[in-house]
Amino acid sequence: MSPPPPHVPQTFSSDSTSLSSSSPSSLPPSSSSSSPLNRLESIKSHIMGSPSPAAVFTAAAIAAAPEDPLFGLMAAYRQDPSPNKIDLGIGAYRDDNAKPWILPVVKKADTAIHNDPAVNHEYLPIAGLGAYTSAAQKLVLGADSPAIREKRVCTLQSISGTGAVHLGGLFLAKFHPQRPQPQIYLSNPTWANHHQIFSNVGLSIAQYPYFSPQTKGLDLDGMLAALRAAPRGSIILLHACAHNPTGVDPTPEQWQQIAAVMREQGHFPFFDTAYQGFASGDLARDAWAIRYFVEQGFELCIAQSFAKNLGLYGERAGAFHFVSAPGADAVESSQHVASQLAILQRSEISNPPAYGARIASLILNDSQLFAEWEADLRTMSGRIQEMRAGLRARLEERGTPGAWNHITEQIGMFSFTGLTEPQVKVLRDQWHIYMTKNGRISMAGLNTHNLDYFAEAVDSVVRETA
Ligand SMILES: Cc1ncc(COP(=O)(O)O)c(C=O)c1O
Repeated sequence: MSPPPPHVPQTFSSDSTSLSSSSPSSLPPSSSSSSPLNRLESIKSHIMGSPSPAAVFTAAAIAAAPEDPLFGLMAAYRQDPSPNKIDLGIGAYRDDNAKPWILPVVKKADTAIHNDPAVNHEYLPIAGLGAYTSAAQKLVLGADSPAIREKRVCTLQSISGTGAVHLGGLFLAKFHPQRPQPQIYLSNPTWANHHQIFSNVGLSIAQYPYFSPQTKGLDLDGMLAALRAAPRGSIILLHACAHNPTGVDPTPEQWQQIAAVMREQGHFPFFDTAYQGFASGDLARDAWAIRYFVEQGFELCIAQSFAKNLGLYGERAGAFHFVSAPGADAVESSQHVASQLAILQRSEISNPPAYGARIASLILNDSQLFAEWEADLRTMSGRIQEMRAGLRARLEERGTPGAWNHITEQIGMFSFTGLTEPQVKVLRDQWHIYMTKNGRISMAGLNTHNLDYFAEAVDSVVRETA
């Protein structure tokens, strides 16, 4: 292809009616151009410049994307003037006054960073802050993890959990050697962004049953049957704890059954852990499933977020870990994977953001601060557990039709209440209570000031529509 002609500046001669150019070919000497009208047009076009090239990305060509349901919900909540309004959509912790909570330990770490004269604004390495990534590894896998000891874990700092899910998806889409390329199986339902992220990187998506509408608990039989039926070597996305959106987690015995089927079928586990410590208040308990799979010798990957458990939502502190299978070439495999991940990272974000990682690193690497963090985690998870117990008790006291045991049996930020879409609409229109259409509520939006009102509202809509 020949390069475009260089731009040729055109100038008026001293006689302003005649146009001259440094290039004699810029005005075709056609006879028609000498008519007064055409001469006028051509003078106009030389003054104004040539007409703009036709637009490609027109409104007709690019359909408007549907609004993100959660952001639409948040906007509607903000505009609602009712003093009784309750936001149960947002996936972020709120204190008993419905306000964001900066963890006291995070405030401390923040002050220490501000006062540290050695801190600057240089780039972090491509793989991230070393002290942070190694501490993040130990946090999720356990300090005594065989995988860490055998040097078969590679970790890259990521743009929070979303970035880690994306980096993992991109790596699998680009480097999974199996042909045809395996599908990634997501729980039905799952965090909505999983669908977008994995399809954006070109992975084909399938689903496995997860939630039983009858019991409002785990559909273990459906899940195991789907894992057995999935082609060998499928990628299975698993929520390590505090499943979003259902709040339903397998028990350790159920995890063992899931692992056994996955081993039989040669499936590849992809763990998403966005709530470690936030679910039960116990960091080791919330990482149990991942550590069990590693102990069982699985090759796997993990997307880790510090948004919820450190309250660092906007600082985007996360990590992506790849654990190679144990074996003679485990270290070399891990090094190769790390080298390819570094190239993907370089082309996507170059260098991860420093601030959140510095805060997390300080807390994770200092035993005193770590202990304070564990106390903060118990504060958050404890308040949420109290709200669960309080809601269930109020509904049962009122005799609200239906069973409400699932409210306390589910865990973490979210509860799948079983409220239907029409009920959700009545709650919003008549009671100013905002939640996603699928009946998911963020438990963190409940507090001692609005719990009675919420229970009264639920009781009312359930009776009206029963
Ligand atoms: C299951 C799950 N994975 C990942 C994330 C990622 O969150 P972030 O990117 O804020 O860390 C979330 C957040 O809601 C989540 O619920």
